[in-house]
Amino acid sequence: MVIEKAMLVKLLVEFIYVTVLVVGYGESSYSRVSGHHHHLNKRMASIKAAYVLRNGVAPTPPALINSCTHHVSDYGGDPTGRSDSTEALEQAIFDAFRSPVDGNHMINGVANFGGSEVHLDGGTYKITRPLRLPDTGGGNIMIHGGSIRASEDFPADGYLIELRASSSNRLSYEYITLKDLMIDSNFRGGGIAIINSLRTTIDNCYISHFMTNGILIQDGHETFIRNSFIGQYINVGSDHREKGFSGTGINIMGNDNVVTDVVIFSASIGVLISGQANMLTGIHCYNKATALGGTGIYVRAPGLTQSRISNCYFDFTGIVAEDPVQLHITGSFFLGNAFILIKSLKGVMSGVTIVDNMFSGDYTGVQIVQLDQSNEPFRNVDQVVVDRNNVRGMVVKSTVGRGSVWRNGTSWTVDFSKLLLFANLIKNVQYTLQSGASASFPNHVLRNVSENRVTVETDVAVSATLHVSVDQSMVGYI
Ligand SMILES: *[C@@H]1O[C@H](CO)[C@@H](O)[C@H](O)[C@H]1NC(C)=O
Ligand SMILES: *[C@@H]1O[C@H](CO)[C@@H](O)[C@H](O)[C@H]1NC(C)=O
Repeated sequence: MVIEKAMLVKLLVEFIYVTVLVVGYGESSYSRVSGHHHHLNKRMASIKAAYVLRNGVAPTPPALINSCTHHVSDYGGDPTGRSDSTEALEQAIFDAFRSPVDGNHMINGVANFGGSEVHLDGGTYKITRPLRLPDTGGGNIMIHGGSIRASEDFPADGYLIELRASSSNRLSYEYITLKDLMIDSNFRGGGIAIINSLRTTIDNCYISHFMTNGILIQDGHETFIRNSFIGQYINVGSDHREKGFSGTGINIMGNDNVVTDVVIFSASIGVLISGQANMLTGIHCYNKATALGGTGIYVRAPGLTQSRISNCYFDFTGIVAEDPVQLHITGSFFLGNAFILIKSLKGVMSGVTIVDNMFSGDYTGVQIVQLDQSNEPFRNVDQVVVDRNNVRGMVVKSTVGRGSVWRNGTSWTVDFSKLLLFANLIKNVQYTLQSGASASFPNHVLRNVSENRVTVETDVAVSATLHVSVDQSMVGYI
């Protein structure tokens, strides 16, 4: 019998492939509580059939393996994204939540599923309703490796993936990882909702075309969002649709969450925070320019803010904070007239530090930090430090100032009204009257600090330089 060389090679490759699969499955038996995995049986049966076909003998049947990886394509999902794969994904998720590790619970009786995975294997799957993790809750599960897209009739109030147990307010999920996923909301609803969950990770995800929130975090603790890209419209800036950008990239309605190294390239608000003790670092916001009504990071946590924003990049869009109490903004770069707006609701601003940032603008007189007191003047100002920011083409605002003035006379005034953030709030002054040339020793006194103007007077005329440093940030109240 003459076998073509190409055919021989093909057969050989297939034989090796099958052998590897069989051996691979044979060796990967996890010691876990068994569940029924019909799709795996199917897969094993087809491997066996192929083997018999090619070799004439059946191999020793491999032991039934309980793989912990649930491939959506094995559940009849369509990886081309053409037909509806909702049920396949639901079933794969359901199976991932089926075999808990014996006697090994996580928080509050949340079952530990040992690291089981739902694997998309690089497919794109279309869904018609939210993929809601089972109500029973659970933890130590990963969904990863492909794309999920909302159908045209996907519910407008839904999210493609929902960690949302209908039952109670207790924590239902712990250590769920959503990784390497492209989430396309198809301009219907939102991307991912994480409600009452503990220690969730969203890593290397690309979330687009949402109408509500790219990611919603509500209650729970310690969601980590990292290395991800979030945008309503896919663009690289200067997009003609920018005026119409809506929705919020990340909506954090909870405490103790961390967002690290994330780009938000389209949304009306980049990140909205209304909880405490959240940490945002390495976020690049160019979601919607301030001039078009957008906000990079909106801090709306009346009463207690306690959040930190560091090493971020505000690209033509800035920060808005309402009545902040303990807010730290540092190490960030503000480009294109981007600025920080502090809005008064009840006139409270306490424990706010805005230090060591860089601001760059177009020399049209935009202030780096601005106060909106249209509702209510800031009456309760305490421990606010705006200092050491470097500024190019914008107007510096600060809570500390240093200045000098020379005069030959009896009165010296250094005017800090353009520099200082608060209109009439110098809490501490230090001055030196320097007069090297004069033979006399005049009496001098600090006469006035109102309207941020510091005046020193002498009893006799003298040629002297007045050096002043002022501080609005000392502890205390107006
Ligand atoms: C300061 O003013 C006085 C009198 O007006 C004048 O005699 C003196 O030369 C002035 N000194 C300087 C350094 O200009
Ligand atoms: C201090 O200066 C303000 C105007 O800046 C003025 O209204 C006020 O009378 C001055 N007070 C004194 C004691 O000179």
